[in-house]
Amino acid sequence: MSYNLLKGKKGIIFGALDENSIAWKVAERAYEEKASFVLTNTPASLRIGKIYELSHKTKSMVIPADATSIQDLNILFEKTLDHFGGKIDFLLHSIAMSINIRKGLTYPSLNYEFLRKGWEISAVSYHKIMQTAWNKKAMNKWGSIVAITYIASQRSFPHYGDMSDYKSYLESITRNFGYHWGIKEKVRVNTVSQSPSITRAAKAVKGFNQLLILSEKISPLGNASAQDCANYIITLFSDLTRKVTMQNLYHDGGFSHTGISEALIS
Ligand code: NAI
Repeated sequence: MSYNLLKGKKGIIFGALDENSIAWKVAERAYEEKASFVLTNTPASLRIGKIYELSHKTKSMVIPADATSIQDLNILFEKTLDHFGGKIDFLLHSIAMSINIRKGLTYPSLNYEFLRKGWEISAVSYHKIMQTAWNKKAMNKWGSIVAITYIASQRSFPHYGDMSDYKSYLESITRNFGYHWGIKEKVRVNTVSQSPSITRAAKAVKGFNQLLILSEKISPLGNASAQDCANYIITLFSDLTRKVTMQNLYHDGGFSHTGISEALIS
């Protein structure tokens, strides 16, 4: 159902790879809510993924960009502002990659070069995107910037490896850059801490299917799906949440505040 929540709003969505991606679901919902947006991903992901299917469906332009490259981000923002003939209202960072996890390296045996690359991709890219938007004066007043995180930033989940540390850093950037955006432009910056859902990035985590089942049993409302996550993010892009900023917002069916559930015991 559409409520026209984003009518007249414009934005950039990072990280839609295929129909399972959280960013894909956000793009579909944003389109239903009458937003206009640019889709972006790395050149390699544009080749292996299905982004052109999504751009066709949502009548949106695709601009390739590696979110770790300031040069790419400058081009992306210049083309986007040019395309819309003015500033934008929302940004979604839905990007993560751990090379250590991909290579099966556990937390005690991290490779530090992989660590640096994964950190650049999964966390520092959020700062770079915001810095580029800041320098280009790209955001309208009362705009909204959102990234997606996981509770392994706050508690230990052994198989989540160095991604746990990237997520902690991502949440810290949210608080610190959120302050400056608020003061200067009345723009809000948040992270959404989402339940597990099966996507390409998630499949790389060892024992992910068991985590999904366990999390479902612990959460009083059950896991939040990627579709649920998209619905929530739409509210954060809308004018209904103008004073919510610098927060890590749990969207997890109650998982984060449950010790143990009867379902798990039985
Ligand atoms: P996904 O694999 O569909 O999306 C990850 C995206 O990151 C891909 O589109 C990939 O191309 C993009 N990416 C990788 N390197 C990049 C770079 N250098 N520049 C630009 N884009 C790059 O997986 P998913 O699950 O949709 O992930 C989106 C976000 O949600 C991630 O931050 C992830 O950690 C987070 N998240 C996912 C959960 C899950 O269970 N699926 C749970 C909680 C958070």
